[in-house]
Amino acid sequence: MTGGASGIGAEMVRAFAEQDAKVGFVDLDAERGEALKDELGGAGRRVAFEPCDLRDIADLRRAFGALDAANGPATVLVNNAARDDRHGWESVTPDYFDERMATNLKHMFFAIQAAAPGMIAAGGGSIVNMGSNSWWEAGGGMPAYTTAKAAVHGMTRSFARDLGPHRIRVNTVVPGWIMTERQKELWVSEAAIEKHRARQCLPDLIEPVFVARMVLFLASDDAAMCTANNYMVEAGSI
Ligand SMILES: NC(=O)c1ccc[n+]([C@@H]2O[C@H](COP(=O)([O-])OP(=O)(O)OC[C@H]3O[C@@H](n4cnc5c(N)ncnc54)[C@H](O)[C@@H]3O)[C@@H](O)[C@H]2O)c1
Repeated sequence: MTGGASGIGAEMVRAFAEQDAKVGFVDLDAERGEALKDELGGAGRRVAFEPCDLRDIADLRRAFGALDAANGPATVLVNNAARDDRHGWESVTPDYFDERMATNLKHMFFAIQAAAPGMIAAGGGSIVNMGSNSWWEAGGGMPAYTTAKAAVHGMTRSFARDLGPHRIRVNTVVPGWIMTERQKELWVSEAAIEKHRARQCLPDLIEPVFVARMVLFLASDDAAMCTANNYMVEAGSI
């Protein structure tokens, strides 16, 4: 799991640990990552954490190697880390564009490259890439982020084809607006919530646990015939 120290990622780490799965996660935020590992790591559970800046592919490879050494090769990979900072299209420089791609897309490709050989050796696996419905809704105010998120779908389908013969499934989970701490701190307001509710078919706000449950399903054998597709958790947001 990447970006497992907070937000949806932390909920997913928790959900897998509560199933007594061996969980390994990486995150830039070492303090929160260590705290989550310590909180969940008791009662015989195996929860491993490696601090890592995923924008640095050498660091990603080091961290994934350390998690393999701690827990054995992963048969599930959740490519979750991202950062939805707002930015105006006029102010985007080539360096900032590259940084957005490194934060929101590039590491997913190299995480798959790092994890796939272990899954091939194990006879199969499940990879979940986190997308976003922001680009589909033609959401503005963060065009480099939405460009990266749209690309996740192409990456998912190409890897589903290339890894399918090894019984490795690759899917995209597409969250709507999920009520994480970061969203609440930065962007939730009464007006924004009311506007958003009107766009959803369902009236309730989406808590991170609902995304975690979709990812658990896709990781499980119950999803054995699900690959190359998008699984929306957006309460019918149009
Ligand atoms: N929350 C939403 O409403 C929403 C909506 C659509 C899509 N998503 C997607 O769901 C996923 C999780 O989103 P979230 O809202 O929980 O995000 P978040 O910002 O709350 O958490 C992201 C985690 O990734 C980590 N991270 C960021 N950059 C990193 C880096 N360079 N190296 C290592 N770790 C890094 C952060 O430290 C953080 O723990 C993302 O892929 C996001 O694009 C979220």
